[in-house]
Amino acid sequence: MTTLDERRLRGALGHLRIADFSRVLAGPLATMVLGDLGADVVKVEQPGAGDDTRTWGPPWWDDGDGPASTYFLTLNRNKRSIALDLRDPDDLVVARRLALEADVVIDNFRPGTMARFGLDRDSLAAEQPGIITCSVSGFGSDGRGAELAGYDFLVQAMSGIMHVTGEVDGEPSKVGSAVVDKLTGLYAAIGILAAVEERRVTGLGQHVEVSLMQSALAGLLNVASAHVAADVDPGRHGNRHPSIAPYQPYRAADGLVAVAAASPVLWQRFADVLGRSDWCDDPRFADNEARVANVEVLAGEIEAVLAGGTVDDWVARLQAAGIPAGPINDVRSAFTTAEASGGARPAPTSTATRSGANLVADRSGRRPTWWPGATGYEVYLRSFADSDGDGVGDLPGLTGRLHHLAELGVDFLWVTPFYGSPMADWGYDVADHCSVDSTFGTLDDFDELVERAHALDLRVVVDLVPNHTSDQHPWFLSARADPEGDHRDRYIWRDPAPDGGPPNNWISHFGGSAWTLDEESGQYHLHLFLPEQPDLNWRHPAVVEEFDRILRFWLERGVDGFRIDMAGTLFKDRDLRSNPQVADWDPAQPIWEQWQAFEHRHDVLQPESLDIFRRWRAIVDDHDGYLMGETFELDPHGMARLLPGDGLHGGFWFAPMHIRWRADAIRRVLVEPTALLGDRLVWATGSHDIARAPTRLGADDAGRQRTLALNVLLAGLPGVLVLYQGEELGLVDGDVPEGAGLDPVGATDGAAGRDGCRTPMPWSQGRANGFTTGAPWLRSAERQPEETAAHQVGRRDSWFGHYQRLLAVRRQVPDEPVDWVDGGEGPVVAYRRGVMHVAANTSDEASAIEVDADVTLEFATPGVALGEQALLLPPHAAAIWTTTGDEPA
Ligand code: NOJ
Repeated sequence: MTTLDERRLRGALGHLRIADFSRVLAGPLATMVLGDLGADVVKVEQPGAGDDTRTWGPPWWDDGDGPASTYFLTLNRNKRSIALDLRDPDDLVVARRLALEADVVIDNFRPGTMARFGLDRDSLAAEQPGIITCSVSGFGSDGRGAELAGYDFLVQAMSGIMHVTGEVDGEPSKVGSAVVDKLTGLYAAIGILAAVEERRVTGLGQHVEVSLMQSALAGLLNVASAHVAADVDPGRHGNRHPSIAPYQPYRAADGLVAVAAASPVLWQRFADVLGRSDWCDDPRFADNEARVANVEVLAGEIEAVLAGGTVDDWVARLQAAGIPAGPINDVRSAFTTAEASGGARPAPTSTATRSGANLVADRSGRRPTWWPGATGYEVYLRSFADSDGDGVGDLPGLTGRLHHLAELGVDFLWVTPFYGSPMADWGYDVADHCSVDSTFGTLDDFDELVERAHALDLRVVVDLVPNHTSDQHPWFLSARADPEGDHRDRYIWRDPAPDGGPPNNWISHFGGSAWTLDEESGQYHLHLFLPEQPDLNWRHPAVVEEFDRILRFWLERGVDGFRIDMAGTLFKDRDLRSNPQVADWDPAQPIWEQWQAFEHRHDVLQPESLDIFRRWRAIVDDHDGYLMGETFELDPHGMARLLPGDGLHGGFWFAPMHIRWRADAIRRVLVEPTALLGDRLVWATGSHDIARAPTRLGADDAGRQRTLALNVLLAGLPGVLVLYQGEELGLVDGDVPEGAGLDPVGATDGAAGRDGCRTPMPWSQGRANGFTTGAPWLRSAERQPEETAAHQVGRRDSWFGHYQRLLAVRRQVPDEPVDWVDGGEGPVVAYRRGVMHVAANTSDEASAIEVDADVTLEFATPGVALGEQALLLPPHAAAIWTTTGDEPA
């Protein structure tokens, strides 16, 4: 639980001239809850009866009770209450977390809901005695409630389901202007909460940015809104709403000041956007305290700047700074056009401001796109969340849990294959690349996922599986059935060797020969994986063209990039020459030993693949898409060859998954690749293909601590970082009962089996850990209560809390060169990037490191202590700190 600095908050909020800030905060908070739940509908009942009661919702809202999964926020002025109707215990957890983080209780959960989850207001208050209890009731149409005039509009606008326009019910309205101006203050309040809480921009940062931009525009329009109070007549429609009458517009610049005062990052961004970077060096505004102290001066300066441009100038300037026009901040149309939205669902807000790297990028102008420095999250779909009780995770299940990812603070999710498949390799055997397998949902479900993810500022990267298809793919069915037909050459067929055996000595990644004989035709087909996964022939133009089509298909559906399965293996040696054998080989050996028995000169990493990557790059660049290859290459120089500047944007660097917990090993897999490849690297400590990092790196909590420490080291380096689902909960491998394994690899080599890392996500306590209401597809022992998301989310000292704070700090990493400052020896691996320092202690003993006198600890794993010019790192601990000076500590 963080402590809200009430004095500071009140100080900042004072400038917003909001009489009762607790009320104001509750609105955004409720809205955030809705956002996190992926709310479909905001139902607003206005005072009076008959046609004064209105409901707004997106077009698909059927005006009845709505689909069962719909969540409601009902604002009812007559009853003076706000009700969050939450249908799932986990959702209540989200709601409570938001409330607790902000030190604000959302009271008036519907009594029934509260009872259902065994909660009441008193118990919440007892849990957090220091809490500011806030009621959002009482926003009537007169008296104090009038302070919240336009509140219903706000909730809709803020939850992203309504454009704020200049019209209400087809009539010109000035309410829009009032609303937008109010939004300014409300967003500022959210921003302040977020920034004060962490003293930086956290996962809520995007709201703050939006606020900033809205504020700037609202500031420009201040004159227009100032007239609202004067000429609004009471009436029955929103534009004549009686409660508007006492409305006094907030001074928009105050919103900006308040935001700027709360966050150094935003202050910088703000000054840049306003073209006044010099303010960052101005002693009057040097730090937050100074800005608060000089707030009046600053407000005056801001107003002067804002007055120096037209609306069009500012819109252009904001766009140039990468701030997109979104549903709410399309302020211009709110004031100047008569275009009615009628509750139409707006386009999702762009994620351009979401990535920490982007903040750097926009300033430096060197990084025009979103992915440098981004953090991804691998969703192993089958095991993430099941929505329909069939025991298999699916797209609607994932959509319903997106709030978990947004809360964690990642920038994108990578979803494992959901395409039509017979599931021989659980989806990596694709039979129809442009479909959704019915196990996982429908194409509509996919669209819904993308839309919801984008609304939460999460990008969606999908898996592309180009090395092979399923043997049930129509092409392969035809190729097998008709050796003379068109499709035959789209795969790799060869006559047997003279002894009747396979055409060469290549082996499958899953063990055994890579060739399977087709009795009918007498030829073998090549499969670097299962026989049911025949390799495509990338020398055939139809294959190349088909994948262009597949890429475009998904890009047009809104995906933000592709993880390229087995990117390094597309092309094989033209003559299919045997690999040099370097050790004895026996198909009964463990898979890894079989693989090591050959030098893989001819079967993988052929240079022709690079031409395909270039081709794809040209396609995705049009969509600002990101290509990250599954590049299994453990030599950094080999990686560099796979990643020329005009091909894949990035490649997974797997070496950190194959080391022991030793400082020299860690340096080996971090230092050289960083120097060679920088932000082209995709870092990860785990995936659905290997035992979870805490399982690999040590027993009990040591493994979890080491994994976190390794992630701390990775988080400060250039490159994309991808967490594997459950990593944020500190999960070790799940316990799959003997004989219950389902991975085809496990069937041939028990030790190599990948079931342990694929067991279902533990969302909550109880049956199937909240993953499904049915029987999970992969049986595994129930997780302990403290391993579940329900237990960890919202707890600062949980694994989730640590990862969440780490990702927030990652957004602040300066775009500076990496200087390794550890001397290349000793148990503490450490580097600095500009003023930011990162260190991890790999030893079983505590280590102390010298630091400057005035350092700020930005992130620390448990037990790290900052003393007089020394930082004490317990075993397996890690920390990130900043120095104020230019010189290294
Ligand atoms: C790599 C995937 O990550 C793995 O799960 C799969 O078995 C192989 N590619 C084959 O597609």
